[in-house]
Amino acid sequence: MCGIVGYIGSQRAYDILIQGLKRLEYRGYDSAGVALVDCDGKMSVHKSHGKVANLENVAQAGNINGTLGIAHTRWATHGEPSDINAHPHVSQSGMIALVHNGTIENYAVLKKVLTDHGYEFKSETDTEVLVQLIEYIKLTSSCSLLDAVREALLQVEGAYAIAVVEQNDPDTMIVARKSSPLVIGVGDGETFIASDATPIVGYTDQVIYLKDNEIGVIKRNEPLQVLSLSDNKPSTISIQKLKLSLAQLEKGGYDTFMLKEIFEQPATLRDCLRGRIVDGCSRVTLSGVDLNKERFMKAERITLVACGTSWHAALIGKRLIQDFCKMPVEVEYASEFRYGNPVLNEKDIVISISQSGETADTLAAIQLAKEKGAFVYGICNVVGASIPRNTDSGTYIHVGPEIGVASTKAFTGQVTVLTLLALSVGQLRGAVDQETLSTVLSALSKMPETIEEALKVDNEIKTLSRVFAYAHNFLYLGRGYNYPTALEGALKLKEISYIHAEGYPAAEMKHGPIALIDHDMPSVVIAPNDSLYDKIISNVQQVKSRGGAVVAIVSKGNTSMSDIADYCIEIPNVPECLTPIVASIPLQLLAYYIAVNKGKDVDQPRNLAKSVTVE
Ligand code: G6P
Repeated sequence: MCGIVGYIGSQRAYDILIQGLKRLEYRGYDSAGVALVDCDGKMSVHKSHGKVANLENVAQAGNINGTLGIAHTRWATHGEPSDINAHPHVSQSGMIALVHNGTIENYAVLKKVLTDHGYEFKSETDTEVLVQLIEYIKLTSSCSLLDAVREALLQVEGAYAIAVVEQNDPDTMIVARKSSPLVIGVGDGETFIASDATPIVGYTDQVIYLKDNEIGVIKRNEPLQVLSLSDNKPSTISIQKLKLSLAQLEKGGYDTFMLKEIFEQPATLRDCLRGRIVDGCSRVTLSGVDLNKERFMKAERITLVACGTSWHAALIGKRLIQDFCKMPVEVEYASEFRYGNPVLNEKDIVISISQSGETADTLAAIQLAKEKGAFVYGICNVVGASIPRNTDSGTYIHVGPEIGVASTKAFTGQVTVLTLLALSVGQLRGAVDQETLSTVLSALSKMPETIEEALKVDNEIKTLSRVFAYAHNFLYLGRGYNYPTALEGALKLKEISYIHAEGYPAAEMKHGPIALIDHDMPSVVIAPNDSLYDKIISNVQQVKSRGGAVVAIVSKGNTSMSDIADYCIEIPNVPECLTPIVASIPLQLLAYYIAVNKGKDVDQPRNLAKSVTVE
């Protein structure tokens, strides 16, 4: 979703900003822009709809000088993707430029007030209201830019990360955040700002994560100042060391980030598991659980909240927790949970799952859970993101930066951590027997090698993907642990190939989707050797008798499915609870190759954002 980059220092800001925008492309966007202030006090603003490359064409035809600048990739919320609606937005006098990530909820009221004072608006955005408001306050109160920004933010309802510059002050940038992330990179005589750390990597490893309701005053050759929005008092600045490397942000020889991330999974799962399975595969240690034993012992219920792919991981987590902890579990979309008047108390544990750690709905859900007294646990990938900073405890999945918009390695990392968590809490509560614990842990500890094995179907799937050039609809079916895997397989396909795909519990299919099945609608059935294998066989037969093609994902050595299904893809044998991790691999590859065959941009699919920071 929207991305912000800013720079002040001695280098040409334009080059750093464009490179930063390119690193933020993965978040998803539809237009881009840049505002540069040169030392003669001139401001140049360039904007374009479409890719950053379009912006470069537009900008290079004009002035790109200046060592102070702000830039933005926009993901449309208020107003269509267009040059005019792209950020930066500039105040009526042309003196102030602003980039914004988030939404100003009371923009209509503010716009009316400003219109009554003679302000005219060029764009349809909520953001333009904020920059005009800042100018209005500055002119009417004859105050500094900092005071005007602060006063304007006190009037604003909603979420924001902003960066503001002024034409006649080439030495100052003001930034602020509330519910949208902003990172400040402190270099030697230069300062960087960005929505996430990716644009900063390679310039400095010293970063500050601005907190909610803080304003940063970044002045050339002066120490950074961070103030509290409410009382204007200085906040404590905590500089952290960034652990991201440039290599992690590159494609490493693969055609796309998504393919790289699919093939990285043996390594990422190794990182995810490191140090967590101990004592010869007889015990799990997760510090987030170990440090909060009392809470997990006393808990009467666990509720998992998440969005998108993370929600699918949560559905698998529900089965894992039920099986290994024998306690009630609920799963909620964060967006529904936050407005659903959930009944919670201090005996509840709410586990939020998020790759980015910045999803607005998930953040709001954990805030609500905390207010109601629940113990809030976070499962997150991005170190230092808002979710880990706002939860009582948690576990990182440690799979490294995920750049492809369609989540792959984060999903398998999330399910792996949920397995560890369920076993850890189960061992603590005495709900799982030692034999089961050791069997699952031993198989989990070999998961990197198992996934390497699973990836060997790559060529087979590449060939198979060509068979389905005709299909406009797909059905994905699974049962038990693999019903969520079916949902995730269908989501992968629709996200990157724009083919309609529906995930369904295989047995439930006969209550509706079966009406859709014909020769043109293939089904992908996840049917490993598990407790429901015999049941799913009859569901496959129901599809076949209506003329639909079936791709079955089966366990290695399966002999019965090949007589019924049109195509069988084998996955390595693992305990039932681990089949979703392994079965995801062929589903990721199938979606990938179908999308590539259709010529789609798999890393940046249309309309999607990697990190959804608005409601
Ligand atoms: C977006 C992404 C998905 C992701 C979802 C939740 O829709 O495109 O890949 O699953 O947000 O994001 P989170 O970062 O909270 O896991």
